[in-house]
Amino acid sequence: MKINFLDLKEFTSPASLESKILTKYIIEKMFDLHMQASQTVWDKEMFDEELKRKGSGFLICYSDGGGSNENDIKNIKAGGGILQKFGASDIDVGIKLNLQSQIIGFFIFYSVLDEMHILDITVVKEMQSKGIGSLMLDWTIKKYKSADIKYFFLEVRTSNLTAINLYKKFGFKIFMLRKNYYDYNKEDALCMVKEL
Ligand SMILES: CC(C)(COP(=O)(O)OP(=O)(O)OC[C@H]1O[C@@H](n2cnc3c(N)ncnc32)[C@H](O)[C@@H]1OP(=O)(O)O)[C@@H](O)C(=O)NCCC(=O)NCCS
Repeated sequence: MKINFLDLKEFTSPASLESKILTKYIIEKMFDLHMQASQTVWDKEMFDEELKRKGSGFLICYSDGGGSNENDIKNIKAGGGILQKFGASDIDVGIKLNLQSQIIGFFIFYSVLDEMHILDITVVKEMQSKGIGSLMLDWTIKKYKSADIKYFFLEVRTSNLTAINLYKKFGFKIFMLRKNYYDYNKEDALCMVKEL
């Protein structure tokens, strides 16, 4: 299995018939992943609207549809293979993407002035804890460091230890607790920030 990353905003601009069909497919798959992995419910239209919003960013992680290969997983875990090579040039423009591609994860964010706000990051269950979330966050931080972004902000459920650990690993600090922030079960949110 070869893992690829796609900058969906670049892929859809300018939009072609092919990119429109593939984007529809990607959004369907993102929605499925989101519903499986998250307790914060977005509907499909929200993905569409977010994609159109000025300043939003969508990083998509996908495979060529082949089965997962033990060596790929070991490489990712060991920080070798794609992890070391990963950089701006490894973000493709959808050349390898097709309707057989398996969407493994996605990362959605948007920028306002010098702030970047993380809206959602999700990795398919079978591929969690193998470094993919870290890859997506790392790419985004590096990309926007040189684009006048000074702060990354996010909210996360107080019970979501995996996500909190991921953000702490990248230097995010808790600065506030928002009581009853989430509609579903009224859970509190930790507000975290990373200064670049
Ligand atoms: C949160 C999420 C995106 C992390 O992606 P991931 O690919 O699983 O994360 P990584 O493998 O890169 O791990 C990053 C760090 O998270 C922590 N982590 C990973 N798996 C963990 C687990 N099972 N338990 C506790 N911490 C864990 C570790 O600190 C890890 O760093 P390390 O491997 O260097 O020690 C993913 O678990 C997910 O999709 N969760 C469901 C959706 C979600 O909750 N999104 C967050 C919304 S705010």
